[in-house]
Amino acid sequence: MHSDIQQAANILAHARRLVILTGAGISKESGIPTFREAQQGLWAKHDPQRLATLQGFMANPKLVWDWYQFRLGLVEQAQPNPGHRAIAALEQRLPHVEVITQNVDGLHGQAGSHRVLELHGNIRRFKCLAGHTGLTMADLAGQQATPPLCPHPGCGALVRPDVVWFGENLDYRVLNQAIADCDACDVLLIVGTSGVVQPAASLPYHAWNARARIVEVNPEKSELTEIAHVHLSGPAGELLPQVAALML
Ligand code: OAD
Repeated sequence: MHSDIQQAANILAHARRLVILTGAGISKESGIPTFREAQQGLWAKHDPQRLATLQGFMANPKLVWDWYQFRLGLVEQAQPNPGHRAIAALEQRLPHVEVITQNVDGLHGQAGSHRVLELHGNIRRFKCLAGHTGLTMADLAGQQATPPLCPHPGCGALVRPDVVWFGENLDYRVLNQAIADCDACDVLLIVGTSGVVQPAASLPYHAWNARARIVEVNPEKSELTEIAHVHLSGPAGELLPQVAALML
């Protein structure tokens, strides 16, 4: 294992354009549950069709709103962990670092990462079904309705979290930027994703096609492990600081 950590450190230390793709596993040590882990994962206990689709929201807006408020509560209590901080610190060591995350918790930004693409939106942001975006909890304060109604004059449409649900498109500008970053990188670090949700799961293949070196950190094998040159098996909050410490 130590030689694998050293190998990962050598690869990262020589990166000219590093892309870091993260998933729920990076935030697990901050107390935020992942989705697909047996028993503990959110989708092991809850039905994503009811809770994370537009159809589910239209069928039962209160159920979906309350569930996202519950998850927002977890996120608001959470702090970045040593994995997020090790990633943020790489910006000081390397010429170009880009984080692409599937997470909606904002913890990379809180840890100090400056260039973060949020593929699946942000759970602290809201939009209405009529298309008004950029709403915050402060904009919705004082409303009795659950979910709240859009405060834009004359609107009043249902408000929903500004996250990407199953069956919805990602913001094409964010996705195009992520693809361009992966096409142009020379090292890809993949952390804490099962690699099963598209289109995020195909981003590593862009890096692979561009002949980037690929390092993965995950206690389990993922759908992406087969294209990784180095797989570090263990929790990101422990392994990423060790990798960083060995980078010369
Ligand atoms: P998953 O729950 O599918 O996968 C989490 C991964 O993290 C698994 O491979 C775990 O083995 C790994 N893991 C667990 N603990 C870890 C740790 N301490 N350090 C590193 N890795 C760890 O989550 P995602 O791949 O992020 O989408 O799921 C992708 C998307 O599916 C999410 O963004 C979400 C979900 O539905 C939307 O909500 C649109």
